[in-house]
Amino acid sequence: MKNLFRLQDLTNEEIMQLIYDAKDFKEGKSNFNLNGKIIANLFFENSTRTQYSFNVAEEKLGMKVITFNAQSSSLNKGETFYDTIKVFESFLIDGLVIRHSQDEYYKELTGLNIPIINAGDGKKDHPSQCLLDLYTIYEEFGYFEGLKVCIIGDIKHSRVAHSNIEVMTRLGMKCYTSGPLEYKEDIYEYIDFEECLSQMDIIMLLRVQNERHSSKMTLSNDEYFARYGLTKKRVEKMKDHAIIMHPAPFNRGVEIASDVVECDKSRIFKQMTNGVFCRQAILKRSFEE
Ligand code: CP
Repeated sequence: MKNLFRLQDLTNEEIMQLIYDAKDFKEGKSNFNLNGKIIANLFFENSTRTQYSFNVAEEKLGMKVITFNAQSSSLNKGETFYDTIKVFESFLIDGLVIRHSQDEYYKELTGLNIPIINAGDGKKDHPSQCLLDLYTIYEEFGYFEGLKVCIIGDIKHSRVAHSNIEVMTRLGMKCYTSGPLEYKEDIYEYIDFEECLSQMDIIMLLRVQNERHSSKMTLSNDEYFARYGLTKKRVEKMKDHAIIMHPAPFNRGVEIASDVVECDKSRIFKQMTNGVFCRQAILKRSFEE
């Protein structure tokens, strides 16, 4: 039984093995299956990509899938998060995929005897997103060492930035951040947005995580777009081989212009496709004997 709370907890070799396994799934070279195993997807926070791509990955592996609806559950009768998870453990099913708005929610669950895959905890970590970002970069370039990435936007509240910067740096990439100073984190190297465009191999945009803010952003959406929005004009400054990534959901006309979302350099929908294969690889790691 293997949990996955943070991709940072894995060695570089283990991360590369997940990438190779995801590649095998994508290329139809793996017969691995989890026929008959039952998994529950417990999303206590909104999700489209992560929830449903785990669902597709589980179905592709032959698993039986239970989808939990937080809005219609006994959470509304006062049942706690911990007790809700204990309910699913009591059903003797084979595993849980959990997203929750609380940072490191899994620390409450250490005594449970069921594999847990973290589908995002608060502003801390998002291991399956980190893996699909790495996979998409590896598929594009074939290596990590020396690649330059700038993550632009609400760094402070982004679990994607926090997971990615640590793992990407460990794999030899040079990571920068940019965007509004109110969302900057001093532990990361900051670079001017206009300056970064011509220097990076990967421009990774983030959404402003309004739902995690205690006070409103000082910039209006229009001001944000004028200062940090990736427009066609700004894309023209990027290197010929450079790519655009975004974990999504994206807000058109705020961090990205509508006509950039599907431009030649954008890998945004490819990231979503790769997410299914990466999540198959993660499930394989959790359940293989
Ligand atoms: N990238 C991501 O986690 O998207 P969802 O919130 O839709 O799952």
